[in-house]
Amino acid sequence: MQKPADRDVIVREVGPRDGLQLVKQVLPTDTKINWIKAEAQAGMVEFEVCSFVPPHIIPQFADAKAVAGRAMEEIDGIRVMALTPNIKGAEFAFDIGVHCLNVVLSVSKTHNEANVRRSREQSIADFREIVKMRDADPRLKHMKIGVGLATALGCTLEGNVPEDETLRVLGEVLDAGADEVGLPDTVGYAHPTQVRSLFTKAIKQAGDVPIITHFHDTRGLGLANVYAALEAGAKHFDASLAGLGGCPFAPGATGNIVMEDLVFLLESEGLRTGVDIEKLRNAREIVEAVLPEEDKHGRILKAGLPKGFEPATQLEAAE
Ligand code: COA
Ligand code: ZN
Repeated sequence: MQKPADRDVIVREVGPRDGLQLVKQVLPTDTKINWIKAEAQAGMVEFEVCSFVPPHIIPQFADAKAVAGRAMEEIDGIRVMALTPNIKGAEFAFDIGVHCLNVVLSVSKTHNEANVRRSREQSIADFREIVKMRDADPRLKHMKIGVGLATALGCTLEGNVPEDETLRVLGEVLDAGADEVGLPDTVGYAHPTQVRSLFTKAIKQAGDVPIITHFHDTRGLGLANVYAALEAGAKHFDASLAGLGGCPFAPGATGNIVMEDLVFLLESEGLRTGVDIEKLRNAREIVEAVLPEEDKHGRILKAGLPKGFEPATQLEAAE
């Protein structure tokens, strides 16, 4: 699916995947679908809906096939993404035919081994193989294969992740045929100067291949990092409703940046996201009702929009 012409930036809801992977309480498939539907009604078009991982590793995703299949069938006009750590998960995604499959591998060798139990080089080789498998299957002509380079901006196991190393791995996955590449700050180590530098170079290196931001707000710099990435030319931003999230295999990981607050920042800057902040409240209420014990973050829906605030998306619609 192309970027809709009426959006300046694309926000991508990763809550049903990243947001839920640390949540012990397994949500029913219906609830996940209702959550996605409610956000689609607010104008959200991109969703990472699940992760194809063994249920004994993350029980939350035992229904991954059902969630991805139902999101494809039941919700019109959205782009359905799913995550996989390996070839086996890719095969499930191929059967369902999701719009975009995101393969996860880490720039930090230690995190790659902790997260997917492979060497980083094996994971890059698996990624090449997954792209080839897609290319060889005529049913999958329209499926995009993305990759998320976890720990691209820092790692709680290795500490600093050198920018050159991230750009080198980026070069390898671009060479392997990645259709889009995420540079996640998996554990919230990044700061704006670092983000501006990495994204400026990565966007130049990637040419037409979109570079996706994915910030965790562990140390409070999430939205500052979004702003730095915007200045570097980024146009795709992951976030999670109510700021749920975190990688179970990265010590100290906590939630993603909050979708509602991200949309407020972007709209305040005059950038059309296509998303109605007030309507996100309906989706948030679903999540609040089913996950009363989880920490839920976000300022804008608690405080309310400033009096007279005119979102860029609605200004455009009114013209
Ligand atoms: N989906 C479902 N089942 C899978 C699978 C997948 N993607 N990959 C492997 N399996 C099954 C295998 O078939 C095998 O089953 P069996 O015991 O019945 O034969 C079993 O899981 C073990 O397979 P193996 O290839 O040896 O996996 P592993 O134990 O080395 O674990 C991963 C590797 C990648 C599956 C595991 O580390 C993982 O799921 N990591 C995900 C991490 C994650 O989601 N992090 C958060 C996102 S950043
Ligand atoms: Zn994440």
